[in-house]
Amino acid sequence: MVHESRVAIDSAADVVAARQKGRALAMKLGFEGSDLTVIATAISEIARNILQHAERGEIFLAVIDHGSKQGIFITARDEGPGIPDVARAMQYGYSTGKGLGVGLPGAKWLMDEFTIDSKVGKGTTVAMKKWLR
Ligand SMILES: Nc1ncnc2c1ncn2[C@@H]1O[C@H](COP(=O)(O)OP(=O)(O)OP(=O)(O)O)[C@@H](O)[C@H]1O
Ligand SMILES: [Mg+2]
Repeated sequence: MVHESRVAIDSAADVVAARQKGRALAMKLGFEGSDLTVIATAISEIARNILQHAERGEIFLAVIDHGSKQGIFITARDEGPGIPDVARAMQYGYSTGKGLGVGLPGAKWLMDEFTIDSKVGKGTTVAMKKWLR
């Protein structure tokens, strides 16, 4: 994997920066039109989750280049409180805060691959991929 970059998430401005960096990398890769919005929105949702539910964390952006198959790989990592019931958190409309509860299911729906790994007291890692068509 090449073109790795890291964005520390510690403020609302960092969420915007991660969104913009992700969009720029996707564009460089050849994504166009609504795909750029889709990728930027998914990044923005998981970055917002770091800020709202874990206070701080980081986002990694990478290019996946398997020759014939290329895409963008986004990882979000935090050492926040973790999620006690991941299956429940993935349900549309479930929120422990004041949110609509659409961030996680929305990001999963927008991306081609989505995995979430969370441990209470340890933190949360979200990994997602979008392939270039
Ligand atoms: N990084 C995280 N650390 C801890 N808990 C998280 C994290 N991300 C999500 N969660 C938990 O999963 C729930 C669902 O997340 P989701 O993004 O779908 O909704 P939300 O953030 O509450 O609201 P919305 O994103 O619609 O504004 C959250 O309410 C929170 O309890
Ligand atoms: Mg959210």
